[in-house]
Amino acid sequence: MKSNTERGGPPARQTRSASPSGTPGSAQAEPGHSLFAFDETTCCALAQTHGTPIFAYHRPTAAAQYQRLRAALPDRVRIAFAVKSNPHAELLKVFAGLGASFDCASGGELSRVAALGLPQGMTFYAGPGKRDAELAQALAQGARIQAEGWEDLERLDALATGPLAVNLRVHPASGADESNRIIGGTGPSAFGVDEEELPSLLERASRLHHVRIQGLHVFAASNQRSAQALLSTHAMVLGMALRLHREHGLDLEQIDLGGGLGVPYSESETPLDVEALGQGLKALLEAHPWFKGELILEPGRFMSASCGVYLAKVVRVKESRGTRFIILEGGVNHLLRPLLTGEPFPVKVLGKSGALRPATLAGPLCTSLDRLGDMPLPEVAPGDLLAFGTVGAYGYTEAMGEFLSHPRPPEVWVG
Ligand SMILES: Cc1ncc(COP(=O)(O)O)c(C=O)c1O
Repeated sequence: MKSNTERGGPPARQTRSASPSGTPGSAQAEPGHSLFAFDETTCCALAQTHGTPIFAYHRPTAAAQYQRLRAALPDRVRIAFAVKSNPHAELLKVFAGLGASFDCASGGELSRVAALGLPQGMTFYAGPGKRDAELAQALAQGARIQAEGWEDLERLDALATGPLAVNLRVHPASGADESNRIIGGTGPSAFGVDEEELPSLLERASRLHHVRIQGLHVFAASNQRSAQALLSTHAMVLGMALRLHREHGLDLEQIDLGGGLGVPYSESETPLDVEALGQGLKALLEAHPWFKGELILEPGRFMSASCGVYLAKVVRVKESRGTRFIILEGGVNHLLRPLLTGEPFPVKVLGKSGALRPATLAGPLCTSLDRLGDMPLPEVAPGDLLAFGTVGAYGYTEAMGEFLSHPRPPEVWVG
């Protein structure tokens, strides 16, 4: 059996560039408040030019999300984009150009970030199952490693040739809950060291030769649109850091608060108030004058979701025993998140209005798991074009792209 490397690694994602001039009306509404990065005319023009199904991304929207967040946060908060939310090289270039750091969770992501040629100290590496080769790669790249347990610490100690500062990921006992299970909240978890195990782990870690725990990493809840909910978790983490500092003498350079900054997936959901988040973090830093280091945020969804739109045409409509199935060119091979979370992406049928009635969106795959959501939609016919918004994060990257061997959708960058 051939290794991944022999096969040339993961199949390249097709990329095309579209100039803004070739896509009339590509401007989007106020960043963070529009569920669709492109207006209807632009969506139709993109489908016409590039064919469907297709992912289209708007660079200025991605840049604006980063800049809004950067402007709202105190200088002592570093932003490390969570590559897993969308690892496309064009997007990484946008954020690198604006000064972002990067949070990686595999050797593949580390390689993508290495290709950006960033200065030392701007790459982080987390993950509950790091292989030896990945740890060595991260060290060679100068990435700051988030150790997830004793095994990581021990292996790093063996690999290091001199003093090595690492962050320790802790799985909190309380204070980080999420309504839709994505990271897992505070239940049993594969991530980090369970908080109650900390004293014994720190005692063992004090005997390591090279590794020094000089940072704390806590992330247990994703897609939080309430600044207050985020801040209350962040306050819990600062409290934990203070205890580690006082009771175990840890000299913390970094406190990584993880990602989790949420986005709306429907018109009825209010966006995260990033200014309130920034003010709250400023107050938190002031409340912890003992901590002289930097805070890290690792947002993925918040930075990449709103720049992406997925366009797919209707292939068939079938009424079956009282259910209207709208069968599209793409399904869970392109967008898996609705099936995983039970939450559909926002959808509109382009150029169609009229009375809405319930529909089940299905893909072309031979499984009844191939569903993109249930929602009221107007009457549609084969050839009609649907646009799915907010797919820039956990969209194509999270899908089952190989399943049933349909062609991969091109990914087009605009602006
Ligand atoms: C360690 C880590 N950091 C950051 C993120 C990004 O989370 P989000 O997209 O919710 O901001 C994730 C998501 O799984 C993660 O596992």
